[in-house]
Amino acid sequence: MSLARRDFIRMTGATGLAWSLPLRGQETPASLRLGVGADLHQDVVPDAPARLAALQQAAREFKADAVVQLGDFCKPVAANLALLRQWRDGPRPQIDVLGNHDMDGGFTPDRTVAWMGMPGRHHASVVAGHRIIVLDGNEKRADRPVRGYPRAIGDAQLAWLEKTLGLDDLPVVVCCHQGLDGMELGVVNSADVRAILEKANAKAGRPRIRLVLTGHHHLDYLAQVKGIPYLQVNSFSYYWTDRKTPGGRFPADVEARYPYLKQVLVYDRPLFALVELTPKGGRVLGRAAAYVGGHGPAQAGIAPSVHGHPIAPTVTDRSL
Ligand SMILES: [Fe+2]
Repeated sequence: MSLARRDFIRMTGATGLAWSLPLRGQETPASLRLGVGADLHQDVVPDAPARLAALQQAAREFKADAVVQLGDFCKPVAANLALLRQWRDGPRPQIDVLGNHDMDGGFTPDRTVAWMGMPGRHHASVVAGHRIIVLDGNEKRADRPVRGYPRAIGDAQLAWLEKTLGLDDLPVVVCCHQGLDGMELGVVNSADVRAILEKANAKAGRPRIRLVLTGHHHLDYLAQVKGIPYLQVNSFSYYWTDRKTPGGRFPADVEARYPYLKQVLVYDRPLFALVELTPKGGRVLGRAAAYVGGHGPAQAGIAPSVHGHPIAPTVTDRSL
């Protein structure tokens, strides 16, 4: 038997499945590359497929281990099936996070999860030696009522998070649509989540929680809370305002088909983040855009920042 043949059998075992291949990861600490987009809002902007395609192409070139969409992707309706097909036909694995607008139109979370083909409202997987944990920030809590869209994590999901962290000792990336760093209008009981993540770090005796990724707020910031980095990934597409503009930034027929366009500051190119985590650190490769028609916060008559974070058509390059 040749050496190569013997090695092949050692790696594949009696079942013929390559069970032992991840052993390489034990010898060499794992690195992880992610393409990350948030808040595409296909139902608000007319060019969501092109914005998604830009992330997919960048993820391919970056040789990403997975592509993440952080929620507010689209409503689960027939008109959006082409977008869903584009997403599923793109680079894999795809990691989906449930956003509040993904249920717009009266759909239940379970209906959206089934339509998207997600493994569940919250779920976990292993990618390139990292545990990726996806939380569902759209639950209700009787003890923390909120106005508007539900934005809590229930007790059963908190228990699931703790149990999932106890499955192994892998480095962890947590994803959730709404902010978990304590951001105003984020997950209302985010402190409960942070306590569990901080406990996992303490138990591991190292910064095992490598990164928390969120969207929803359409902002661009990195918050460090008790040694855990919380990266807010700006929207692919726009910043929302409550002020309607007179219009004219898009052709009249487009503005007629997409009425919310008059209430958003549209980015003239898609924004997303390419994230690399290495055993020694990590980096975020961002992108810069401008506002379509030069229509930014000043032109819309809104404050230039929200809760201390500047409103900007940018995903900033950062070291992690
Ligand atoms: Fe959202």
